[in-house]
Amino acid sequence: MKALITSGGRGTRLRPITHTQNKHLIPIANKPILYYAIEAVAEAGIKQIGIVVNADNQDVANAIGKGEKWGVKIQYIPQEAPLGLAHVVKISQNFIKNEPFIFYLGDNMVVGGIQKFIKKFESENSNCHLTLSKVKDPSRFGVPEIKKNQIIGVKEKPAKPKSDFAVAGIYLYDSTIFEAVNSIKPSPRGELEISDAHQYLLQHGYKVTFSEITGWWKDTGKPEDLLEANRLVLSHQQGRIEGRLDKNSTIAGEVVIGKGTQIKSSHIRGPAIIGENSLVENSYVGPYTSINNETRIINSEIEFSIVMENCRIENVGIRIESSILGSNVDIIKAKGIPKTHRFILGTQSQVELF
Ligand code: G1P
Repeated sequence: MKALITSGGRGTRLRPITHTQNKHLIPIANKPILYYAIEAVAEAGIKQIGIVVNADNQDVANAIGKGEKWGVKIQYIPQEAPLGLAHVVKISQNFIKNEPFIFYLGDNMVVGGIQKFIKKFESENSNCHLTLSKVKDPSRFGVPEIKKNQIIGVKEKPAKPKSDFAVAGIYLYDSTIFEAVNSIKPSPRGELEISDAHQYLLQHGYKVTFSEITGWWKDTGKPEDLLEANRLVLSHQQGRIEGRLDKNSTIAGEVVIGKGTQIKSSHIRGPAIIGENSLVENSYVGPYTSINNETRIINSEIEFSIVMENCRIENVGIRIESSILGSNVDIIKAKGIPKTHRFILGTQSQVELF
């Protein structure tokens, strides 16, 4: 079995972060989102992984490399334009050949691994095995119609969903999927929809089975999804202190503190992670917070947030919460007169003042 992982697209709903960074490289608990997909696939014993990338950008290939870190072999498959997930499958036929494969959307995160889905796909002799997850807002997703425990239809982003399940971004296929993706036509939004390929398989009598994802599943499409994914990953983490904590500091719960990081006169309440070579001084870092490397937090309070590399949060009078800071961001107290707020914000930045 091979694996095909997506890492393309423009991540428009995550701007401004995605103006400068591929969505799949945004860190969740200080690790790029894409690592979680690769880890899950490697853990399932799959050795050959194709990662589909935007043809005009090398960032993913540079960040991920050839796969030695995970004991796998990674090949990159360029996609010229975002023409849909079924298009991604279509252009990957040369890489997949006739093998069965797992198709894993690189921005999806699941807990508990993927082995059980592979086992079910194999034992049920399916042409296609879908993973389903109950959601509050199915019309954001591909939605199955289920009768007598069988999927009888799949529709992409339906206005009137026929169930409260989303088809999650982890799919198992045999080579009949290539017949489907080569037969369907683009949707009104101009994309080859993966849901239309599933509908094709159903209509042509192929065997489509499913598993329900009972642990958590997250499609990290919007800022609040990132914070939620970060919360979920941190809530499974075990504490580990590699940095230095002075005697005036306290730690509660599962906290990771990386090498070279100093905690001075501060309180860290886990679950939280602080990367390497950072400084937290006279500050409070609260639950579900990920602080990356080379960051300084001084005389400030922060919780339920993601802070990327090389940021400065200094002398901020009120607690920062539910926030995402890209790398090299400074939030500092303005000095002097007049007493004002001063901003230098890039396009699509968002600031909410108390
Ligand atoms: C895509 C698929 C959709 C699926 C979802 C899962 O949607 O088209 O069928 O339910 O991924 O993450 P997108 O995230 O591209 O809107």
